[in-house]
Amino acid sequence: TAENEPQAATQANVANVKAISKEITILYGSQTGTAQGIAETKGKVLTEKGFNVTVSSMNDFKPNNLKKVKNLLIVVSTHGEGDPPDNAITFHEFLHGKRAPKLDELNFSVLSLGDSSYEFFCETGKEFDQRLEELGANRIANRVDCDLDYDEPSEEWFNDVLSQLSATAVENSAVQTNASNAPATESVYSRTNPFKAEVLDIINLNGRGSDKQTLHIELSLEGSNLTYQPGDALGIYPENNPNLVDILLEALNFSPEEIVTVNKQGDVRSLRDALISNFEITVLTKPLLEQAAKLSSNKELLELVSAENTGKLKAYIHGRDLLDLVQDFGPFSFSAQDFVNILRKIPARLYSIASSYSANPDEVHLTIGAVRYESNNRDREGVCSILCADRLQPGDTLPIYIQHNQNFKLPENPETPIIMVGPGTGIAPFRAFMQEREEIGAEGKSWLFFGDQHFVTDFLYQTEWQNLIKNDVLTKMDVAFSRDSEKKVYVQHRMLENSKELFNWLEEGAVVYICGDEKHMAHDVHKTLIDIVEKEGNLSREKAEEYIASMQQAKRYQRDVY
Ligand code: 2AM
Repeated sequence: TAENEPQAATQANVANVKAISKEITILYGSQTGTAQGIAETKGKVLTEKGFNVTVSSMNDFKPNNLKKVKNLLIVVSTHGEGDPPDNAITFHEFLHGKRAPKLDELNFSVLSLGDSSYEFFCETGKEFDQRLEELGANRIANRVDCDLDYDEPSEEWFNDVLSQLSATAVENSAVQTNASNAPATESVYSRTNPFKAEVLDIINLNGRGSDKQTLHIELSLEGSNLTYQPGDALGIYPENNPNLVDILLEALNFSPEEIVTVNKQGDVRSLRDALISNFEITVLTKPLLEQAAKLSSNKELLELVSAENTGKLKAYIHGRDLLDLVQDFGPFSFSAQDFVNILRKIPARLYSIASSYSANPDEVHLTIGAVRYESNNRDREGVCSILCADRLQPGDTLPIYIQHNQNFKLPENPETPIIMVGPGTGIAPFRAFMQEREEIGAEGKSWLFFGDQHFVTDFLYQTEWQNLIKNDVLTKMDVAFSRDSEKKVYVQHRMLENSKELFNWLEEGAVVYICGDEKHMAHDVHKTLIDIVEKEGNLSREKAEEYIASMQQAKRYQRDVY
């Protein structure tokens, strides 16, 4: 269901827990690496506390081994319309299928990650939690559903898990000390302590007359000790547009200079600064509307958030922001502090890195599409992309961090062929891949599919690809410019035209990468891959699907989609 049921509804069945063994398996399902990061960090802590910990991607875990697991911790995010991340799909299917075993002996707890602006908030975590219970497993700590700002809730969940595990754990004196030595140069900067990176350059990659604006941004990492691998992403903490903040303040009838507390540590600043830097003002969520309804006692708003109106609420939230809320249901009589208390922290935006670190030491490059659109009779804009497009200058700084992504990696063997599909800004990580392969002198073949609207204005990094082809780093490139001909041509059409050769590459062991739009492009490209395997491999539809699924399982089919 779409509901975000209260967490207390499922009581931890602590009484059922017998002697807890020191063996703990942590399985993560992670698309961008957040769930994986949490799983690994918590795994380290548990190891230091003397537990015998295995941390693994759900994909790398043999479901048949589930019967042997004593304590299972699941850290999983939810993707798109309530879907599991790619590396959780198989395990999720297995658990929900007929072959799932009885798990009476298993202790478990689930941490789910999500975004409350989506209808199916934390859906995958909820499903695992419920299914494990159905299979007879004992929940040792209640599931916690985290919104974008997951630090505190995930910490609370972990403390709960830890106290349950420690309270009942069989004594085990020997504390293992296999914590690996961290490299001496490890950076002090992280998501919770971002580095202020200087902007070196900003270039619009699109030519005059294009409908698009795609920014190439170069940032300096000098002095940060931060490094990254091709396939990693960069997190940026953006600021809201001050013009929008001023209009919002006026609509709210609050003084911009009023001082508010912005976090649990008690930091204070002016309301205007807080709305620019600390809080999200461009997205509405169900919990936000519920709290605003409660605070204001506005009858219409209370009605909108009532249980009977789920569909209406979803329709209202879509494409609207805080200003709409105030204009539609205000004036509100609550205080500025009450107001900021119900807002979410402004979340960082993740961008696939477009450069190789070894080819550009102390630099990181990005390819960012400027987001502008109209909805509900107002021009709207993407917070971070328009900050970069309209207000950022060389010499300014941006708070950034590196988000490592183990699910989108060049093959370890530099001779392995790779096929890259990246229309629009989906091209970004492939620029990193090619720079890296050129830098290390990799011998593997590579094939790039790129697409955008017009050849003349939108061929992103055109001369770079030409040079890479000339230098034999990039073996083959096929392009699809969708709006240069009457009929739309997309990357998947180019793939299909080359189906025989593409299938040969797959048979030779090529790894396939897809980056870019998830809902349409990645979905259609996926179908096309199955078409190609079905046709060229003379397979049934079902066998062709299995072929692609097993490629995914073997990490030979990787996606970075948004
Ligand atoms: P369009 O905007 O002309 O429809 C990068 O944005 C490129 O991806 C554009 O050429 C865009 O075409 C194209 N694109 C849009 N939808 C797509 C889909 N379902 N599959 C592949 N490419 C798509």
